[in-house]
Amino acid sequence: MLSADSVKVAVRVRPFNQMEKDAGSHCIISMLLNSITICDPRNRNNVKSFTFDLAYWSHSAFIKNEEGILIPDGPTSRYADQRRVFDDLGQEMLKNAWKGYNATLLAYGQTGSGKSYSMIGYGPDRGIIPLTCDELFKAIQQNQELDKQYQIYFSMLEIYNEKVIDLLSKSKQPGGLKVRESPQRGFYVEDLRSVPCESSQQVEQLLKEGNKKRITASTNINMSSSRSHMIITVRFKQVFLKDNLTKQSDINLVDLAGSERQRASGSEGDRLREGSAINLSLTTLGNVISALAEIAMGKKVLHVPYRNSTLTKLLQSALGGNSKTMMIATVSPADICFEETLSTLRYAERTKDIQNKAVINENPTEQLIQELRTENTKLRSTITKIRNSGQRVEEETKELRRALAENELEMAEIQTSWEQCLERAQKEWEQQYQTLTQERQMIQMFPYLSNVNVDPQLSAFVKLFIRDGRETVIGQSSNFSQVVVIKGLGIADKHVTITNRDNKVTLEPHGQAKVTINGVTVLTKVQLRHLDRVILGSNSTYLYMGLPRERNAEDLSKYDYDFFQSELAAVEGFNRDALAAPAGQNKKVDPSVLAVFLDYIRVKPMVTEANQISKELNKDLKFELEVKNLALTDSRGHDLVKEVMVKVTNILTQQVWVWSRAKFVNRKFIMEDIYQRFVDGEKISVERESDPFWDPIEAVHLGTAYVWLQSLNYCITLEEHVEFHNSQGEEEAILQMNLVPCSPTGQPLGEDGILIDPTELLGQRLDFQVQIIQCLGIKWLKQNSKRGIQIRYHVLSHPHPFHTKPAWNNVNARIDQVMQFTVKSVSQELLSYLQNHALVLDLWGLQVRLSVQLQETGDNQLSELYVKLSKLEQEIELLRDVNRTLRRDNVTLKDTLKRVMNDATNPDGKSFHQSNIQASGSKGTHKASYEVEFAKALKKFYQSMNQDEASVDLLRLYLDKQTGAIKDVGDSFEVCMNTLKNDISLIVKKKKEHSLWSSVTK
Ligand SMILES: Nc1ncnc2c1ncn2[C@@H]1O[C@H](COP(=O)(O)OP(=O)(O)OP(=O)(O)O)[C@@H](O)[C@H]1O
Ligand SMILES: [Mg+2]
Repeated sequence: MLSADSVKVAVRVRPFNQMEKDAGSHCIISMLLNSITICDPRNRNNVKSFTFDLAYWSHSAFIKNEEGILIPDGPTSRYADQRRVFDDLGQEMLKNAWKGYNATLLAYGQTGSGKSYSMIGYGPDRGIIPLTCDELFKAIQQNQELDKQYQIYFSMLEIYNEKVIDLLSKSKQPGGLKVRESPQRGFYVEDLRSVPCESSQQVEQLLKEGNKKRITASTNINMSSSRSHMIITVRFKQVFLKDNLTKQSDINLVDLAGSERQRASGSEGDRLREGSAINLSLTTLGNVISALAEIAMGKKVLHVPYRNSTLTKLLQSALGGNSKTMMIATVSPADICFEETLSTLRYAERTKDIQNKAVINENPTEQLIQELRTENTKLRSTITKIRNSGQRVEEETKELRRALAENELEMAEIQTSWEQCLERAQKEWEQQYQTLTQERQMIQMFPYLSNVNVDPQLSAFVKLFIRDGRETVIGQSSNFSQVVVIKGLGIADKHVTITNRDNKVTLEPHGQAKVTINGVTVLTKVQLRHLDRVILGSNSTYLYMGLPRERNAEDLSKYDYDFFQSELAAVEGFNRDALAAPAGQNKKVDPSVLAVFLDYIRVKPMVTEANQISKELNKDLKFELEVKNLALTDSRGHDLVKEVMVKVTNILTQQVWVWSRAKFVNRKFIMEDIYQRFVDGEKISVERESDPFWDPIEAVHLGTAYVWLQSLNYCITLEEHVEFHNSQGEEEAILQMNLVPCSPTGQPLGEDGILIDPTELLGQRLDFQVQIIQCLGIKWLKQNSKRGIQIRYHVLSHPHPFHTKPAWNNVNARIDQVMQFTVKSVSQELLSYLQNHALVLDLWGLQVRLSVQLQETGDNQLSELYVKLSKLEQEIELLRDVNRTLRRDNVTLKDTLKRVMNDATNPDGKSFHQSNIQASGSKGTHKASYEVEFAKALKKFYQSMNQDEASVDLLRLYLDKQTGAIKDVGDSFEVCMNTLKNDISLIVKKKKEHSLWSSVTK
């Protein structure tokens, strides 16, 4: 029977985590039935709504019951607990499985959003997988029939970097398992262990085993479920013995890698962007979903790229094929996760369009064997044909033989009775139960170190017991007596000795072995105390569980990976307050600051690991984590967005690179891959082009200096010694530079040009020079005198930066560069810009081998500048012509003015000037005040003239030169006359007052 239906999509919103609570995060998600609304925290009007098949509010209104399970806090609570999610999704999968349909549940969402919580669960809060298995075994018990047999097989695999790792296999599989394709089974994993199970306890045990393998097996690096995809398959077979019929359902439970991997490590601009396979599966999954969604909407899609990644190969039947498929998209409700949450919701929305065509997998058992036999006959005849042709026999037949062997194995498996399978598994179960019981007993007897993983799901799986009355050595090598062997980056053969005597436990590092306890580096013997945080080597993190009598019922969940890393960062002087500006004033942490802090403590251990990998592979690179823009501002003095970055230094050549977080994370994945191959004993030779430790040399941003532009508003020359500060606020160099208002020909305006009121500049032309004289005490060159520097800066709204010529090999580099800039007409906007902004100058560090290249770049840009400069000069010449004409006009106007004034105020023929002199001759003080008044009037007059000059200027450029100018001068004359009349009447008034005053004083 064929059943066509779309993928069912559920969304679940988790509670705030501790970090989000500490930061006073806001919930940006609201839910009404199956509709979800998300609000952009930076723009409250930007609201998006989505509707899904199911929506679970697990954010609030819950309490912990006496068994430690989270449940709704009352009858009206809308909190969706684990049981409720199982009741919908788990039960539906079971219903389909009983019918013989394949069922798939995918968990998608960003790291820490609750995928593993929903799928597997934490402690008593058991998730869909264990609850589904519970229910399945319960139902089997209740449906026992004589002529019916139920068989359950459990398998668990991980896809990491496109490699398939069998999480239930004890043996090592360096290159991972192969993914094969067969006509009957589609894509499948060759040699994957599939364990027959009889109870849900066994399933739980397998889950633990699989998780333990996740952290201890593949890499020596702190493994997290967010890095890899995990596929658990529960194969449920119902064998109808009487009818010789088998109904089979594969229940696939997929915990996908953190969705942010798809985007964040897409490290824009990294030449090795494609070098890492880490994102391939997730990206391809997105592409497959998009293609299938388009098909569902009736669009023609030529190709669904299932074959492009391991994950999509294995999920082919789940997506658009023979499966009843569901997705649970988990999201964080916090404002700082807005981008990721929105992207998850969009992804989920697309997924719900996909159409699947599930069929009931019901076959006579004999038929399965018959099909395999027929296929084998075909394979054999092909092999014979190739052999008879006599060509490249081995090459061609190798694959066919392997397929033949596979089929035979499968036939044997089908024919093996269920009882035989169980019997075979029994021995192993017994062994495991024994180990488990032993571990439980030891926990009660001895102190131990319990692993703490970046992924809480993988914590507390490894326990290093410290037995009574003796010394226990912990290290990589097993060549010591009483040794507990651990693998890990930076772990020495003999790393530490822990002694447990007389109820006192001490730890002593060996040689150079790196050990930190509670964030502090330990060099000598120390006593361990219950709940101490111990880090061995680069990043093997353990919580010390003291002697049994020291333990209480503490809440251990507090001591998670973030706690360890925050503690470590705090000891190194880095905490949230250090990021907030101004420190400590605002109790509530800015979400963006919190995000940087989180980034910092998450990336920090990766940086430590990268340093260790570099050391072991002799790469001579040193990685340092820094916060970009920690102490830098924009041109208005506002804080710039902070983000973590990694400074990379070649310790031999002193060359430096600065990598973004995304680039570093991307590179780190590739490094891990290479390192893993190195650990596996492979001979590593990586081409330079694909080497994550290599990059071409580049210029490095060293620091920034700010020169306030306010002085230009007053036409005051600014002679400055300013400091270049780096991202951390430390001084990198001192810059000697001047900001000089000047004439169009470059003559400094000097003191005479100083303005009291900046509005006098309105409509005026403004010329100024940026004179960069010298850069002093350059740290970059003190560290290595072969280096160089270059200064780059932006001027006003000019789109391209200007830069000085590179200066080499001098701690006190002489630059002597003068650049002149012209503003044709000063506007009010410009005045306020100058009032409130600074000129931002960036100091760039140049590295030896790049010198020629950079100088060339410099020359090119300089020649571009020269072209621009000569164009400007032409314009200046034109303006000068206009100016000269205007000056002539002004002279004429002045003469006319004089004449008018003579006529108006001096009927006896004396000129205004003369009368003024006379007046001043009669009384010195009044002469001065008249002169001031007269100067004022003249200034006003010239101001009006200047304004008119500007309009004349414009007219001259665009209208007929002569007539336009005459008309305009005429107009100006009128205006001037009016101004003049006013001024003259003022003067006359003053004169009258003066005469009156003179007569009074006589
Ligand atoms: N619905 C929920 N109710 C209570 N706690 C939750 C819920 N969902 C998640 N959490 C908690 O959030 C933390 C992170 O969840 P989880 O490990 O499931 O994330 P994840 O999506 O699997 O992340 P990763 O991609 O890193 O594996 C855990 O401590 C978990 O207990
Ligand atoms: Mg997880």
